[in-house]
Amino acid sequence: MRYEPAPAELYEENRKRFCDSMESGALALFTSNDILPTNADGTMPFVQNRDLLYLTGIDQEETLLVLFPDAFEEKHREITTVLWNDQRDALLKNLMSQANKVYLNRNEHLRASVAISTQEDRLAEEIQKTYPLHEYKRSAPIMHQLRSVKQEGEMKLIRRSAQINTDAFLRVLKAMKPGMMEYEIEAEFVHEYTRNGSPGFSYTPIIASGYNACVLHYIENDAELKDGDLVLLDVGCWYGNYASDVTRCFPANGRFTDRQKEIYEAVLRVQKACIEMLRPGNQLHAYHRDVGDLMEKELLSLGLISQKDVDHQDPDWPAYKKYFMHGTSHYLGLDVHDVGPWTRQMEVGNYFTVEPGIYIPEESIGVRIEDNILITEDGYENLTSGIPKEVSEIEKIMSA
Ligand code: GLY
Ligand code: MN
Ligand code: MN
Repeated sequence: MRYEPAPAELYEENRKRFCDSMESGALALFTSNDILPTNADGTMPFVQNRDLLYLTGIDQEETLLVLFPDAFEEKHREITTVLWNDQRDALLKNLMSQANKVYLNRNEHLRASVAISTQEDRLAEEIQKTYPLHEYKRSAPIMHQLRSVKQEGEMKLIRRSAQINTDAFLRVLKAMKPGMMEYEIEAEFVHEYTRNGSPGFSYTPIIASGYNACVLHYIENDAELKDGDLVLLDVGCWYGNYASDVTRCFPANGRFTDRQKEIYEAVLRVQKACIEMLRPGNQLHAYHRDVGDLMEKELLSLGLISQKDVDHQDPDWPAYKKYFMHGTSHYLGLDVHDVGPWTRQMEVGNYFTVEPGIYIPEESIGVRIEDNILITEDGYENLTSGIPKEVSEIEKIMSA
């Protein structure tokens, strides 16, 4: 194995915490993901269902987890196994006769858009058809809450993912120069990831020079880095199934222009102020509103928006959105845009990105700065603070 797995106790505790949230007399079912086809006899790389992984650590297809704390026979209280369909049907028939409620799992991520029927969708459909008189419950709200509070057993993998990404950004900082292609920078990340036991990118990397940085989902990475370009790098890796997700902007030639620096410093001020707002008890909604106020102030002093724009703004799409049109933070973990409750207060163990940006297409300048922040009892810990983000520090390393 390329990584030391999390301790088995982590998964035992995760199952216990799920069971503690279940109603009595209830059974819960979790499936693995499918192996998806490409063409001919090809398949896509297997990606395990994150909830099953969280509850079992099993990174293998064709797995079914049954949790039934009130089962008559002790051996049925927790079952993780690879089962043939006929064995599975017989087991379920037995257990369903004892249960009165069933927790089923669905992908309830706010931004999920799934065009195919997944294994858990098929199980949910089949079981509700076969046993229409049971009461059905949703596992997702419980899973979102549990997964959003990182446990000690997860931290080694999370820290390692952040550290490998840190090493990769430091490598890129030293390698970058005008004339390189964006995909050559991508290759530097791959090199550092693979040599450290990471299976690779946790999402399609964005290596965006000059104007490309203003195209939010730019992933072509096929342009040449020009002298004078600012290069936006939004890149992260997996390690032991945990994601990192970092953005930095480096000047291709090692020196920021005055204008690039002005914009960059504005984003950096907002990013630092955002990080300071992350602490237990703060509300995510209030946080996002406060970030909007900070960004509005910076854009007003940069002269990019006017007080008149603010006075006449649409409250659903405030004036600052013209230059900062995406969210500031998302949960991070077994998924890059990890599941977590959006309406609750921040808690110790939450792990967030913080990623404000300013994008000015008419000037070919796009700046985003993104770190990975763990909420602690005292406030926060920045797990990606080793990746330089001060202008002087970036310029110093690039000129060495
Ligand atoms: N790279 C995806 C994100 O920053 O959310
Ligand atoms: Mn990112
Ligand atoms: Mn992100």
